Amino acid sequence: MTRLGVNIDHVATVRQARGVAYPDPIAAASMVELSGADGIVCHLREDRRHIQDRDLRILKEIVQTQLNLEMAATEEMVRIAIATKPDIVTLVPEKREELTTEGGLDVVKSFRSLNKAIQRLHKENIPVSLFVDPDRNQIKASEGVEAEAIEIHTGHYCEAKTSTQADDELKRIFDAIGEASQRNLRIAAGHGLNYVNVRRIAEIKEIEELNIGHSIIARAVLVGLDRAVREMIALIR
Ligand code: PXP
Repeated sequence: MTRLGVNIDHVATVRQARGVAYPDPIAAASMVELSGADGIVCHLREDRRHIQDRDLRILKEIVQTQLNLEMAATEEMVRIAIATKPDIVTLVPEKREELTTEGGLDVVKSFRSLNKAIQRLHKENIPVSLFVDPDRNQIKASEGVEAEAIEIHTGHYCEAKTSTQADDELKRIFDAIGEASQRNLRIAAGHGLNYVNVRRIAEIKEIEELNIGHSIIARAVLVGLDRAVREMIALIR
């Protein structure tokens, strides 16, 4: 059965928009676990635009399933990961100006620096997954650099404007999975998955885990809105 990791970054985005204490991603993580998710994912970005250091510390204490820390392979983040000891680290590329993670890691080009970061995390018994585009060379390099797992970037498939484009992107994903499943790598996938496009990805049996954030938090706003309004009306009348 495909596992679901829920990324709670955008609960923190709503909090940070006002600089108040709510909604707290810690409370969200507990609710997500109560609803049956298999893991909590958060991305501590260099600019701290959503998840804060305090969130990560408390998540480490309260998450009972699996805490997956997404981060760039920088000195600061490697130190934080070693101090926090999440259940798994997912290394992602990060650019300050991007709206969200835009592409996979270039494992081929950054082989040495990634290998160094991975060695340091392994020394602390922290397994590492690499967020990569569906590309055979990146997957071969991911095994070479000694990652335990890869997370295939589904963003291009999700952004496809036509069904032909979606089919092409799906072919790339199948091809990448063909490569990864011959290697010593666990396979996850994520980015951009929503209630419409997830089905074809969820059907791929080699993918053990899907990591989904924005669409779930976005849906929670809408499915929760009716109750939230009724509760305010009850208070003010
Ligand atoms: N996986 C990775 C590696 C990511 O960087 C993100 C976004 O933070 C996700 C999954 C979740 O993507 P989305 O919010 O589009 O579902």
